[in-house]
Amino acid sequence: MIRPFAYVAGTGRGLPAARMTNHDFSAIGIETSHEWIVERTGISERRIARDGESTCSMAADAARKAMERAGVGAGELDTIILSTATPDRLLPATAVDVQAALGASRAAAFDLSAACSGWLYGLTVGEGMLMTGAAKTVLVVGAEKMSAIVDWQDRATCVLFGDGAGAVVLRASKTARRVNDAKEAKGILSTFMRSDGQLAELLWRPGGGASLPFTEAMLTDRSHFVKMAGREVFKHAVRMMADAADRALDGARLTGADVDLMIPHQANVRIIEATAKHANIPMSKVFVNVDRYGNTSSASIPIALDEAIEAGRIKDGSTVLLCAFGAGFTWGSMVVRF
Ligand code: ACO
Repeated sequence: MIRPFAYVAGTGRGLPAARMTNHDFSAIGIETSHEWIVERTGISERRIARDGESTCSMAADAARKAMERAGVGAGELDTIILSTATPDRLLPATAVDVQAALGASRAAAFDLSAACSGWLYGLTVGEGMLMTGAAKTVLVVGAEKMSAIVDWQDRATCVLFGDGAGAVVLRASKTARRVNDAKEAKGILSTFMRSDGQLAELLWRPGGGASLPFTEAMLTDRSHFVKMAGREVFKHAVRMMADAADRALDGARLTGADVDLMIPHQANVRIIEATAKHANIPMSKVFVNVDRYGNTSSASIPIALDEAIEAGRIKDGSTVLLCAFGAGFTWGSMVVRF
């Protein structure tokens, strides 16, 4: 079968300037240590939004860079998909703020909520729009201000997360590719998405939504902040990331040996190592920046993708495996050839 393909035309990232190191937690009364955090997670520091930096401002920053690299003007965007678990407000979507900030006068804009897997979900939705002809140019942004929803009194979660945004401009090729020829094909070769809502309460924000609206009691019980059963989440993450890697590789008719670079969701270096081992991909072919940014939820893969391209680790013809896992649970993966 011959059909056009969706490709990444440009990438960008938007990160707050303020760094918070593991040593800085003692200043806010959190009993932890640099050694504990590094040993369990691989994280050394994270960025924290300050001085009016918002999910929208970080998203727009990342988007402008991606559009510049793609050579795409705001008026050319047909759709803006913003994946976020931390919208600036609950109504309307933060994506419309990004649309306004960019001046994307022709664009549809909506938020997508699938936690840490959200950006990969968004890329898959964007690809679908391109393939049906519903859009020619789609901006897919992952942006998170996790510092606004973590409980800064809970040492088991607050050390894990950070703020930031990453974006890609996705376009449809003018030429066609033969989809049954995986070694030659370019662009998005395969996608996989899955969810299991039975496990929702292992990683969630119980309060503050429509079923349990914010009350003053939450100032005490803190149920409007992120709650996580760390060990359980860890076990599922390892299993689901491995599954995701297998599914995208099978879908593209490739194996780990064909992968030039794997970019997994950056939550914890131990989860990353287990996923790479399962997929038979050496760590030298895995992009890791969790040490510098912590877990930026749905922004983590697009930030890493942008850094990997900038560092020359992705070149024309590189085969890249993306894998994500997050609250829901949701998980997903994709193989992209550049
Ligand atoms: N500093 C020091 N001690 C701590 C800290 C901290 N920051 N946090 C917890 N501890 C203590 C606990 O209180 C506990 O002490 P106790 O034995 O006296 O009760 C001890 O450390 C062990 O706690 P565990 O939670 O069992 O530690 P674990 O080895 O499981 O590591 C961690 C915790 C790092 C959270 C791990 O479970 C993990 O990485 N889980 C996955 C989390 C994750 O990646 N989530 C995001 C994925 S999905 C998404 O991205 C949205």
